[in-house]
Parts: sequence; structure tokens; C-alpha cells
Amino acid sequence: MMDVSKMSADRLQSVQPSMILGLLQKARSLQSQGYPVIDLGIGEPDFNTPDHIKEAAIAAIVADQTRYTVVPGTPALRTAIVEKLSRENMLSYTAEEVSVSNGAKQVIYNAFMATLSKGDEVIIPAPYWSSYPDMVAIADGTPVTVDCPQSENFLLSPEKLEQTITPYTRWLMLNSPSNPTGGVYSADQLAGLADVLRCHPHVRILSDDIYEHLMFDGHKFASILNVAPDLRDRTLLVNGVSKVFAMTGWRIGYGAGPVDLIKAMNVVQGQSCTHACSISQAASIAALNGPSDFMADRANSFSRRRDIVVSALNAIVGISCLNPEGAFYVYPNCAGLIDRKTPEGRILTDDQTVCNWLLDVHHVSVVPGVAFGLSPHIRISTAASEDTLREACRRISTACLSLESST
Ligand SMILES: Cc1ncc(COP(=O)(O)O)c(C=O)c1O
Repeated sequence: MMDVSKMSADRLQSVQPSMILGLLQKARSLQSQGYPVIDLGIGEPDFNTPDHIKEAAIAAIVADQTRYTVVPGTPALRTAIVEKLSRENMLSYTAEEVSVSNGAKQVIYNAFMATLSKGDEVIIPAPYWSSYPDMVAIADGTPVTVDCPQSENFLLSPEKLEQTITPYTRWLMLNSPSNPTGGVYSADQLAGLADVLRCHPHVRILSDDIYEHLMFDGHKFASILNVAPDLRDRTLLVNGVSKVFAMTGWRIGYGAGPVDLIKAMNVVQGQSCTHACSISQAASIAALNGPSDFMADRANSFSRRRDIVVSALNAIVGISCLNPEGAFYVYPNCAGLIDRKTPEGRILTDDQTVCNWLLDVHHVSVVPGVAFGLSPHIRISTAASEDTLREACRRISTACLSLESST
């Protein structure tokens, strides 16, 4: 029989299949067998795409906007993005400096494919969104992860950044608010990083701002360009409609950056998927130009959910959880559960065994920190109703109370 693993390209040897999607599959399979699984594994808002956006998509179909568009996205959508960046972020771009892709994920992928060669390094503060290192590896680059533990609020310090930059560094990844921690860089913290970056003009900055509207406790979103506009020529802003407008399935993200970089990314896109779906592009214009008052309500509701989960988790012996300032995740440390024994006789050797046990026995699906490069932690998505979150925390608490010491 043919060995399929031998048929894949060398570059796939260092790429991991998504652990999150694997867990999702397992949770769905248990659900289909009738188990009452609570799935807090996936990073997806739990509300529907607003009606006016759906109506714009239907209108685009009726108006036969169903043909190829230009590679970087329709001029109308790129204009809406330019206006959004000016209105919400006080940043000035032209349509030529914007490229629209199938989700923010593909924007990042295009950027790496367009700029990385073998031996090029990308600095990724850990914990990170799990796709970053694998996308770097697919593009033949080398992911260089920097541990940013809970004691440092999961944020990269200027000192650590300085120590990690080499002549081969091509990109620094910044993601604020963060997936998986909900951590947010303040304007001052970004200014500290910018001071270091000014001394290393060969390093580009990729600012992944996809959670910008989910900020709590009165904190204001700042991107590195708000505090260091002089870095504009080497910064790629990445954003999209997935999280803020609950449009994950529509697959629209965008990048804004210097023209030479955007042109190179468009070459990658032109020879891979051509462009993002014409209907989704039309819907995204309605999203960006439409009402934005619901965003504050969403942020308030995610902040209430965070409060419920953080206080319930901190009441559990063996778990400690920071209070995230944004996004819809919490990232508790579970060091106190490691090496304990479950009533079923399992030893919880690491965060992955913790998450498998929580899913198999207590029917709560959460993602182990190993998927995000910093253990022992678990990522819990708060994109579920308050009652569901309370029940999930109750199950986790019951589970932890049942543990014995393993010796
Ligand atoms: C930090 C971060 N960046 C980018 C993305 C990709 O978003 P999309 O491709 O749906 O626009 C995600 C999705 O989970 C994310 O968490």
C-alpha cells in the first residue's frame, strides 16, 4: 500500500494540523453520540451576521455581482476599508495600499509567502494564535517564539524583543487584543516596542488587529502605528469582518501596508485563489459602512461573560486566571492540576491530558495551551451564553474537586 505521508512536500514536515479543529471534530462526534458536550473550543462569535449585511449579499446576487473581481478586492470595498481606517483608527491609506483576501488568515499567509525565504525568521510572542508558526513554516521561514508568561501578563517586553532580533529577523507578530489570552498592549507598551524596532530597520511589523472592537473596562484600542507613525513603511495592518460582524464563514479579511508589500501579496493571491468571493465582498461593504452601535453592546456582553468565567475559575484550587482586557478568551494556568490523578485512574501529565479528560469525562471542550505555545494552560472561549459558561465552569470545578494527588 502507498505511504501517503511520503507523498507530501518537505515543507509540510514541520507543519502541524490544527489541534483546535481536531478537538472540534472530537467534540462534535461526542455530541452526535448524544453526549451533552459544551464546546468552548472554537474562536467564533455566538451571534448571527446582522440582517442588513445578509440583505446586501442577496442584493449583490440579484444584481449579478457574481463574476471575477480584481485580485486585491473591488475598488468599492477597498474604499470602504480606507474610510474605516481613517474613521476608526485615524490612519490614512489609499486603496492601492489595501488588499482583500479570504479572511485575515489568508492576508497573513500571503504576506509570509510574499516575503519569506529559507532561513528568514519571524518573531512570535508566545502564547500565540496557533496558525502563525505553521504559516511561517509553510512559507519556508523559521518561527522564533518568545515565552511571555502569565507573570508578564502574556505581553512581549522591549528587552525580550531586543534580545530576540537577529540579522535574519523579517517580521515581528503583534496581536492585541490577543488570541488566546485576551491580553492588550497599552499605547505606552507599544511605544516601548517601537523604540526597539526603530533601531532595527530590517524588521517588519505585522499588527493583527482582528479583535480591536472587543475591549473591556474602558480600555481604548491602539495599534503600533497610532504611537509610531514613522514605522508605517514597514507595518502591515491585518483586520477583517469575521469577529466584529460575526462573519467567520464569509471569509473576508484585509491588509493595509506599503504599496510594494501589498503588490507582492497580490501576486501570491493572483496565482492562488485570484480573489475573495464577490458576494462576500459586497456584504463586507455593507458591514463596514453600516451601523456600529451594536459593537459596544457586544463588548459589554463579552466583558460580563469574562467576569463570570474568571471569578468561577479563580475559585477552583489548582487554577489561576488573569482578567483579560479584550477578545473572547480566557487563558487560565492549570499548573496545580498537573500530575494529579483522576477517579478513572488517568494521570494528568500536561495540559493536553487535562483537556482530553475534561472533554471525555466531563463533556467540556477547551483547548490545551500547547496549541498556543505556552503550557500548562487551557484556552476557554467565552463566546457562549452566560448560563452555558456557568455550567461549563461548574463542570470544571466538579472535575477538579474529584482529583487525587498521584503519589
Ligand atoms: C488572532 C487571529 N488572527 C486572525 C484570525 C483569522 O480570522 P479570519 O481568517 O476568520 O479573518 C483569527 C481567527 O481565529 C485570529 O484569532
